[in-house]
Amino acid sequence: MRKIIIAGNWKLNKTAKETTELINLLKRDLSDISEVDSVVCPTFIALADARDALDESGIGLGAQNIYWEDSGAFTGEISGPMLKDLGVQYVIIGHSERRQFFGETDETVNKRIKAALKSDLLPIVCVGEMLEEREADKTFDVIKAQCQGGLKDLTAEEMGKIIIAYEPVWAIGTGKTATPDQAQEVHRFIRDLLAEMFNGEIAGATRIQYGGSVKSENTKELMGQPDIDGALVGGASLKADSFAAIVKNSCGIEK
Ligand code: PGA
Repeated sequence: MRKIIIAGNWKLNKTAKETTELINLLKRDLSDISEVDSVVCPTFIALADARDALDESGIGLGAQNIYWEDSGAFTGEISGPMLKDLGVQYVIIGHSERRQFFGETDETVNKRIKAALKSDLLPIVCVGEMLEEREADKTFDVIKAQCQGGLKDLTAEEMGKIIIAYEPVWAIGTGKTATPDQAQEVHRFIRDLLAEMFNGEIAGATRIQYGGSVKSENTKELMGQPDIDGALVGGASLKADSFAAIVKNSCGIEK
């Protein structure tokens, strides 16, 4: 059985004070929901306030990136031991915005995943094709290369700690969601690939989130697909009502 996991990627939004305010609203709405994992990922500078505000709410805390060295002359970076020390549990790695705007490659994604695991953080690893790639019928090739490169040299035990997020780039922030069938097809492909790369048991247990214009209105249909085990939510996670509705609409769906 896989437990659905809904994570809010707050991207470059909200000051520390606004982060605390939003978390307080989420706690009111979500504190009695334990059948779905919910996670919020604020900016680095809001993580300490977020941790204090989350307290014992049961809502998890994630960062949006991690650097692969523990410390040293790497201006502007944040390391695994620093995140762990703050009480962070999850870390988003290889989001398409990092790949598009900040030069992330499958190789750097791989280094970041290893660093996260070394610090006992749970990676949420993002993969997804661009519109041109989908139109050129290259979706599966792109996803395969991203999974093989990003998850390179990991053991099955390490893979057991990783969450994958399939986020078609053309669906992120555009209001254009992949249809449940389109998403399910890629999720199934990823699960089969994980079975080949690791083993069937790990593939069957790995949670694969969908991301790209998820909102409360399309949650049930997406989460109802057999291989969709959660969502990575951008825009709709910035308001308590819409994020809480996505979590609530994911309840009662068995995986
Ligand atoms: P969106 O973003 O929900 O605003 O499309 C998703 C994401 O980038 O993780």
